[in-house]
Amino acid sequence: MHIEKAVPKVGALVTGIDVKTMSDAQWGQLYQAWLDTGVLIVRGQDLTKADFIAYSSRFGKLKPHRVKATRDPAFPEITLMGVTTGSDEKKDKLVLNRGQGWHTDSPWDTEICKGTQLYGLEIPSYGGDTLFASMYAAYDALPARLKERIAPLKVAFGYGGRSRQGIERLEPEDQARPPAVWDMVRVHPETKRRSLYINPTHVINIAGMSEAEGDRLLAELYWYMLQPNAEYRHKWQAGDIVIWDNRCTVHSAAGGNPADQRRVHWRTTIME
Ligand code: SIN
Repeated sequence: MHIEKAVPKVGALVTGIDVKTMSDAQWGQLYQAWLDTGVLIVRGQDLTKADFIAYSSRFGKLKPHRVKATRDPAFPEITLMGVTTGSDEKKDKLVLNRGQGWHTDSPWDTEICKGTQLYGLEIPSYGGDTLFASMYAAYDALPARLKERIAPLKVAFGYGGRSRQGIERLEPEDQARPPAVWDMVRVHPETKRRSLYINPTHVINIAGMSEAEGDRLLAELYWYMLQPNAEYRHKWQAGDIVIWDNRCTVHSAAGGNPADQRRVHWRTTIME
């Protein structure tokens, strides 16, 4: 097994391993590399849905995604990403542009979403990359006055943020759920490192602040999200499995892939 850093401050790239047959010692190394770098990419895997569920379950408890329409009918813990008939307009709407814009996954949930894992099956000839950024690096880069100011703050998150973009993907009862509120400075339960827990896709407001004051502060903080050597662009190959730590990274589907080519992934949502 070979593990190397993707870029200095985020991501680890792993080759020469089959996650179906690895030893416990190799698993320990993979998990540690994930904690150290926030994003773990393992190349060249050949997995059934049951294999993907078994590997994902090693990281934590799987939770079927709140968007019910894209759950795999036989394996509800798997979300089917990019699968569309091309003739079903409603389904197309569900899958196209999903994941574009910087975000962490499920901050609108009241349980902590530990990680998200994608397995690449059909990869377009260009575009369709996924971007990642370390929110440890974002926090570390903040000036002392901002670190002090945000230390006591809490942020409300909802599906699609204040604009509720994409809310039609949810069932009516889920659309009506109240926002989830989290500390803006998150202390990672395993690494004990601090990260900045905001994202422009899902944030609704900063608790106890007027919208205008909260938006001014958020606008200032967003400038720190992308730091040198802490941003990684993943160019997919079929057979890649990529898991990111939602407690300390943000990500975005980069788009730019041709509309007439399929981009298909399986996805699992992993809780603490
Ligand atoms: C996501 O944001 O969950 C998906 C990212 C991607 O499709 O590249």
